[in-house]
Amino acid sequence: MKPGQSQTVRGYFGAIAGRYDLTNTLLSFGLHYLWKRRTIKAAGIAPGCRVLDLCGGTADLALAAARAGAQSVTVCDFSPEMMAVGKKKAFGVDGISFVCGDAQRIACAGASFDVVLIGFGLRNLTDREQGLQEILRVLKPGGRLVCLEFSTPVFPWFRRLYDFYSRYIIPTAGLLIAGSREAYEYLPDSIKKFPLPEELVLMMRAAGFSDVTYARLTNGIAAIHTGRKARQAQSTGAETPA
Ligand SMILES: C[S@@+](CC[C@H](N)C(=O)[O-])C[C@H]1O[C@@H](n2cnc3c(N)ncnc32)[C@H](O)[C@@H]1O
Repeated sequence: MKPGQSQTVRGYFGAIAGRYDLTNTLLSFGLHYLWKRRTIKAAGIAPGCRVLDLCGGTADLALAAARAGAQSVTVCDFSPEMMAVGKKKAFGVDGISFVCGDAQRIACAGASFDVVLIGFGLRNLTDREQGLQEILRVLKPGGRLVCLEFSTPVFPWFRRLYDFYSRYIIPTAGLLIAGSREAYEYLPDSIKKFPLPEELVLMMRAAGFSDVTYARLTNGIAAIHTGRKARQAQSTGAETPA
C-alpha cells in the first residue's frame, strides 16, 4: 500500500465533503439514487441483518440499509469530514454507527457482518486485494459483499460521449460546485484505471468470494458486483454475468 496516495485521496474527500452529495446528484443527473436503490435490492437485506457500509462517506447506502430493515449498520470511512455529513443525515435514525478508519484494515472483529456494502469505494483503495481480504474477514460465513462502482459504457458512441463528459465537463463542474478541480480530475482518472466488470469478477474470485455475479447499470456507467463468503470450506462458485 502507498500511504501517500491514500492521504491524497482522503484530502480530496475532506475538501469536497460539504458539497459531495449535491455534486453527485448534479453530475449523475440523479442516477446515483437509482443505482444505490439497486444496490440495496441486490443486498437482499433481511430484518435483523448486520451491515457494514465500507467507504460509506455521507451514509446514503447506510440509511437505505437501515430503512430496508437492517438491525445495525456500521459506516466505516477514513474521512471524518464525509462522515460528519453522514452523521447529520443519520440523526434520529436507529441502529447506525460510525467508525473512522481504513478499509484496508477494518477496525471490526472477524465474522461480524451479514452484508458488506461498498459504494464507489473499492476504486479508491490503494491495495484492492487487501481490501477484499478484509471484507472477507469481517463477513460471517455465508455473508454477502455488494459492490457498486463506476465502470465503462458498453456502446462505443456512448463511451465517447461519456469520455468527453468525464474529461471536460466533470472537472470544471467539480471546481464550480464542490470547489475542487483536482478531486474531479481524479474521479475520471480512477475510473479509467479500475478493472472492467469481468476483471473484477476474477479479482473477487481470487480473493476467495464465491457465487460472484455482476450487473451493468445505465449501459455500464456503473456496475454492481456481488459475492459470497463460503459457509464452510472454499467453494469454486460459478460466476454468472447478470
Ligand atoms: C466516492 S465516495 C463514496 C461515498 C458513499 N459510499 C457513496 O456511495 O456516496 C468514496 C468514499 O470512500 C472513502 N475512502 C476512500 N478510500 C478509503 C480507505 N482506504 N478507507 C476508508 N475509506 C476510504 C472516502 O473518504 C469517501 O468517503
